[in-house]
Amino acid sequence: MMKKDNFQQARRRWLKRSVAIGGAAASASALGATSESLITEVQDWNRYLGDGVDANPYGMPSKFEGEAIRRDVAWLTADAKSSVNFTPLHKLEGIITPNGLCFERHHGGIAQIAPQDHRFMINGLVDTPLVFTMEDLKRFPRHNQVYFLECAANSGMEWRGAQLNGCQFTHGMVHNVMYTGVMLKDILAEAGVKTNGKWLLPEGADPSHMTRSIPIEKAMDDCLVVFAMNGEALRPEQGYPLRLVVPGWEGNMWVKWLRRIEVGDQPWHHREETSKYTDLLADGRARRFTWTMDVKSVITNPSPQAPINHGRGRTVLSGLAWSGHGRVERVDVSIDGGRNWHTARIDGPSLSKSVHRFYYEFDWDGRELFLQSRAIDEKRHIQPTKQALRAARGENSIYHNNAIQTWYINTDGSAENVEIS
Ligand code: MTE
Ligand code: CO
Repeated sequence: MMKKDNFQQARRRWLKRSVAIGGAAASASALGATSESLITEVQDWNRYLGDGVDANPYGMPSKFEGEAIRRDVAWLTADAKSSVNFTPLHKLEGIITPNGLCFERHHGGIAQIAPQDHRFMINGLVDTPLVFTMEDLKRFPRHNQVYFLECAANSGMEWRGAQLNGCQFTHGMVHNVMYTGVMLKDILAEAGVKTNGKWLLPEGADPSHMTRSIPIEKAMDDCLVVFAMNGEALRPEQGYPLRLVVPGWEGNMWVKWLRRIEVGDQPWHHREETSKYTDLLADGRARRFTWTMDVKSVITNPSPQAPINHGRGRTVLSGLAWSGHGRVERVDVSIDGGRNWHTARIDGPSLSKSVHRFYYEFDWDGRELFLQSRAIDEKRHIQPTKQALRAARGENSIYHNNAIQTWYINTDGSAENVEIS
């Protein structure tokens, strides 16, 4: 038993010890080591009344979270109305992208459509062409599904070499949302697709008249026509009041402000947007109809926008992995540029065609690191190295870059986008 007068001394000794081991095990600081006043003195937020319940009818993030915003890259596009911004992946946790942080890609600005003025039409090779109001659509059975959307051009600037400094810019043309909507096959059944109806042409109501050719098999499989994201109505920038969801397939097919689907007997390849989304190979041939987004992952922390700022010791590495082919089965992480691989811990829901959250905890010894992650999906597709991808596809591509990303960690904890061979 410890006598009371020895207690202070023993406690001081214990505090000293916990400072010494603080870096390795827990990372709390011992009392006395940091600004004690935050504990011992009454702070303003503890003294004065805060805002009432009427201050924010629609809630906003804390004012201290101002860095968690979508960002664009000025030199990438000349015009904000045919442009793109990027999801701040390094600021996110879990698997769901908050509605206000989903990257935006639109070719004719954001259409503002009152739901009561919106009409959705099915025509072409159907028994009965139909026009639906939003109310009509909400009378079909509803489904809730979490899916990632990745623009085919995500990581496109990285084909020839390391370019953009941050996972927001290299990988931020992806978001992951729980959608609520109705199955496209249920709507098509109502109209009755003729036997020669093999292709769909969805069309947006925005000034870009975005159209894409989609094979009927995909429509009959898992496509949704949705009106809600993460529990609330779609955001205007995500296609309010109605958008098409094409799980696992490239983002440009997910037509926003969806107003019409025409059923045809062949793809509409003469359309400009269709011909644009092809991958040019080294020999001048092009890959076309490359719809599925391949298995991919990226370490979001640490990364150039989220350096290691706690010094040596316990470090939590985290990232995202996804595959248009289904679930992600495993993620490997390397801190030495791919020499040694460790199986990361996938935490949270593992859903098909949805992003997966992974972690790898390690003790940083303060040396330089080369961080990499490599995802493997349930169909056994393995994320390729940049060299392997270039060997297969050449260097002229923009689309479908799912290569392994490398972050260099300097001895001061700062991070940089690099390539290693
Ligand atoms: N739909 C319409 N009507 N207009 C568009 O410009 N852009 C497409 C697709 N659907 C587009 C569209 C592209 S290229 C992508 S990557 C996704 O929408 C982006 O979806 P998001 O803005 O929800 O991220
Ligand atoms: Co796109």
